[in-house]
Amino acid sequence: MNFTVVGPGAIGSLWASYLKDAGHHISLWSRQTANQIVIKRDHCLANTFTNNDPSSVMNADVILVTLKAPIVEQVLTQMKSYINSDAIIVLMHNGMGTAEAIKTHLPDNPLLLATTTHGAYRPSSDLVSHTGRGKTLLGAANQKGQQCEFLVEVLNHALADVAWHHNIDQALWNKLAINCAINPLTAIHQIRNGELAQPQYHAQLTAIVSEVCAVINAQGFKAEENNLRQIIDEVILATSQNFSSMEQDIAHQRPSEIDFITGYVVKCAHQHNIAVPTNQALYNAVKQIEQRW
Ligand SMILES: NC(=O)c1ccc[n+]([C@@H]2O[C@H](COP(=O)([O-])OP(=O)(O)OC[C@H]3O[C@@H](n4cnc5c(N)ncnc54)[C@H](OP(=O)(O)O)[C@@H]3O)[C@@H](O)[C@H]2O)c1
Repeated sequence: MNFTVVGPGAIGSLWASYLKDAGHHISLWSRQTANQIVIKRDHCLANTFTNNDPSSVMNADVILVTLKAPIVEQVLTQMKSYINSDAIIVLMHNGMGTAEAIKTHLPDNPLLLATTTHGAYRPSSDLVSHTGRGKTLLGAANQKGQQCEFLVEVLNHALADVAWHHNIDQALWNKLAINCAINPLTAIHQIRNGELAQPQYHAQLTAIVSEVCAVINAQGFKAEENNLRQIIDEVILATSQNFSSMEQDIAHQRPSEIDFITGYVVKCAHQHNIAVPTNQALYNAVKQIEQRW
């Protein structure tokens, strides 16, 4: 199949490399100006990809978008005239809230949402390291997307495990709840995930989870406080040595995904008249840090 990977950073380079090794035609769409990009994954042979080629985008069966959430709408709007209306758009990023905009800009395309727990690190623009194997969930965000379950087999052949989720928004909310608990606190305090197991974070984590659960339930999805809290404690333990992506974004003075993580919860809470003071305070604190740069 023909794929265009939009935003070949850590996760995008990982997928581009595995998909190319699986025999697919892969082009990239990036901020780099070169018309060819070389990417080497771990100890594999380097691959060369076409970059920013409108005709490759026009021929793409799948547009795999691995940009960070805040720039998804902007970049897809810029590329819109090259995207064939049959092309399957897959949005693969942390956070929620981009699908609504993409449905408006590209109403005829099948739209899928994906969430992955693979770990990828890009020490330089031509290298990518697969730091942790994980699972990718894929699901439909519109009616045409529901015809695209076959893509699971294609992606799974390139980089397992991939599974279809019939209620992808539920899966995204589950992931969002974990991100709401871990990301802002680690970003504000510039700490590793494991530090959140210390007693001083206990009450704040409980409040975050309680508020996020209320919002998830109001949105019509399932979430149970004790169960969610237990999952979050397990993630904190399992990733204790890791720095969250938001911690890294703040440390490097890059715009974080806060608007699409805690910000999305706050926005939905307002729509349901649910008070979310703890999440609101964390949102404000991260925004204040970003405004200082
Ligand atoms: N990395 C992981 O292990 C991991 C795991 C699970 C989920 N995620 C999620 O996956 C998403 C991507 O994360 P990532 O770690 O891959 O981030 P990343 O390395 O920063 O990748 C984002 C890419 O988008 C590119 N980009 C920025 N502006 C662009 C533009 N205008 N046009 C085209 N490309 C543009 C960036 O270019 P530059 O290279 O020029 O900055 C970068 O290559 C995030 O939502 C993240 O939370 C990541």
